[in-house]
Amino acid sequence: MSAADAAMPAAQTRRRRPPAPVPEEREFGRLELLLRLRRNPLTIWRTRHFREPIVAGEGLFGYGVVISDPDAVRHVLVENAANYRKDDLQRAVLAPGLGEGLLTAEGEAWKRARRTLAPLFTPRRVAALAERMTAPTERTVMRMARRRSGRIVDISADMTRVTYDILAETMFSNAIAGGADAFGKALTRYFETQGRIDPLDVLGAPSWLPRIGRWMARPAISFFEAQVKAIIAERQALHAGGSWHPEKPDLLDALLAARDPETGTGLSNAEVGANIVTFIGAGHETTANALTWSLYLTSLAPDVRDALEAEIDAAGEDLAAAALTGERLALTRAVIEEAMRLYPPVPSLSRTALADDMAGACVIPKGALVVISPYLLHRHETLWQAPEQFRPERFLPGAREGISRYAYLPFGAGPRVCIGQQFAMIEAVIVLATLLRRLRFVYAGAEAPMPVQRITLRPGRGMPMRITARRG
Ligand code: HEM
Repeated sequence: MSAADAAMPAAQTRRRRPPAPVPEEREFGRLELLLRLRRNPLTIWRTRHFREPIVAGEGLFGYGVVISDPDAVRHVLVENAANYRKDDLQRAVLAPGLGEGLLTAEGEAWKRARRTLAPLFTPRRVAALAERMTAPTERTVMRMARRRSGRIVDISADMTRVTYDILAETMFSNAIAGGADAFGKALTRYFETQGRIDPLDVLGAPSWLPRIGRWMARPAISFFEAQVKAIIAERQALHAGGSWHPEKPDLLDALLAARDPETGTGLSNAEVGANIVTFIGAGHETTANALTWSLYLTSLAPDVRDALEAEIDAAGEDLAAAALTGERLALTRAVIEEAMRLYPPVPSLSRTALADDMAGACVIPKGALVVISPYLLHRHETLWQAPEQFRPERFLPGAREGISRYAYLPFGAGPRVCIGQQFAMIEAVIVLATLLRRLRFVYAGAEAPMPVQRITLRPGRGMPMRITARRG
């Protein structure tokens, strides 16, 4: 601890250094590396990864290059993106659940899907969807205020629930065959069993060899897939019968109406289903984690919390409108951006090089695994001042413009940048503002919550917080 830290009150010191695995200098053997990958991939990063712009060498998966140099990041993700495909490990972990969806598609199939789906997330469409986000959020706040006030609860579960409720409303107008609760439970079972890196995937075992976790998940997967099919069939029947006239179409209407602008072809039912699962998979836990860490970090910093509450109280009744215009909730947005800097919901992006390439002075041979880790980039000693400290001011207008586009990548970059980025940011601002308008959250765990990387970055043992009411 530095002399400056020692002079600070304990709460402020904690605020300055939110929890994270402490990197080590030493190199790890293969077995230790495998165990670390299995338990928490964040712990494989050594001190040099936080100091050096590029670290290359033989690793568990053959030759690998870890890139944390913004120019080289731009080269790989944008300028020469065609030379890199999503790596097989990432696809092995995601594809069984996400099928032919946009996140895991490659080549021509991806291009066609991206062209077809892009109009679903234009600013105008997102603004229309934002209006539907307020009601489910208000319901969550009321539920928390009524049932949870004064108690200690795992708020990560509440955040997962609210982002699910918002997706159910924006995606299906909450008209879910078989009921929203059964669907929500099937969804939880489905995603609980995805996202763990199986040692067989790491070792490159063929895909026909059953992975125990996924094999056990099969019944949940089948149930969930049947539910998605039923929802699509029900909506198509409503369209055909002329009894569905939404004033503002939801995402399912938009998926069914989507056409490739080049060929005029629509999506097959299987593709609509895969993209529903993809949007839920990609947009549910990611946003929930961003909110969970935002609440945690705010609870460690009373000065930030007071300023946030003041901003939200002055923002007016219509928080969705305030979230869309931006200025009135600038600090709320900055807190979320800073939370995603310290705890990026997608902590690692990986690609395989299709041909030899150079990124800056670094040679990237054909077949190399290229890792661009937002977690490393966002905490890199050469790119940030006091990278381990929680300072939302970095993202306020005036300061934010100084942050390199390729040093801050919570949503990725280039052609495969997150299609739901605006949707997620508006959603997170609305939820955080609505929660803090009525409730106050204080961290109540015995130990600091350690971030653990699954597909997303979660608190390892949930996020126990005491909730109290601010106003009625
Ligand atoms: C805070 C919330 C979110 C974060 C941090 C996040 C992050 C990301 C990142 C980093 C990627 C790029 C992955 C790569 O390049 O390998 C991505 C892609 C994607 N995201 Fe998000 N996402 C969020 C919310 C959402 C939402 C709400 C949706 C949909 C409703 C969504 C849908 C997608 C899809 C479909 C892709 C694949 C795009 C493509 O490959 O063309 N995401 N996301």
